[in-house]
Amino acid sequence: MIKKASFLISNTDYRKCPSPTKPEFAFIGRSNVGKSSLVNMLTNNKNLAKTSGKPGKTQLINHFLIDDNWYMVDLPGYGFAKVSKSIKSTWEKMISDYLKNRDNLVAVAVLVDSRLDPQKIDIEFITWCGNNEIPFFLIFTKSDKQGKSKTQSNVQKFLQESIEIFGEEPQYFITSAQTGEGKEELIAFIENEVQD
Ligand code: GTP
Ligand code: MG
Repeated sequence: MIKKASFLISNTDYRKCPSPTKPEFAFIGRSNVGKSSLVNMLTNNKNLAKTSGKPGKTQLINHFLIDDNWYMVDLPGYGFAKVSKSIKSTWEKMISDYLKNRDNLVAVAVLVDSRLDPQKIDIEFITWCGNNEIPFFLIFTKSDKQGKSKTQSNVQKFLQESIEIFGEEPQYFITSAQTGEGKEELIAFIENEVQD
């Protein structure tokens, strides 16, 4: 269980992020997939990270300190069509520089909408992680939006495509910010990694 969570700082540059002395986990995924909602669900605080029905809400690298022990990071989404090309490439550079250079990053959680068939942009992103040796795991979000069998079938399709790329099944979780599904498993997984 997370007992304490506080917002620290927002940045556009990984070099200005909090000193990399604690293990760090970051949340990424398509705009509107539910990254900020997941931060709030995990920390039991509806207002810690800013959420919105409109994609493109989170635009900076946001650091949260968890239990004085590790950093949780809410990142901007990718694949947001409504921003100009130059803003898009600035965001992409900000995120890729952060992921490639942040020394204390243990893993990036790639959030995937559990309602959808595998999306090209998500597959491209995990392939990019693999090519850049950035450890990642998957979080299938919004499981409350459809029945269990629909979620399962979308998850299995995504895992199958991942296996074709990596030769093994990535670690994954199924979550809902609405019902709290997956919360305890995900926190237990991260806390275990933090202790190592
Ligand atoms: P950006 O910051 O724009 O990249 O989006 P984000 O990935 O941070 O998404 P955010 O958490 O702001 O959520 C987007 C919308 O999805 C909001 O309207 C949330 O209420 C909704 N949402 C997020 N997670 C869930 C979930 O698990 N279940 C349901 N039903 N809605 C969710
Ligand atoms: Mg957000």
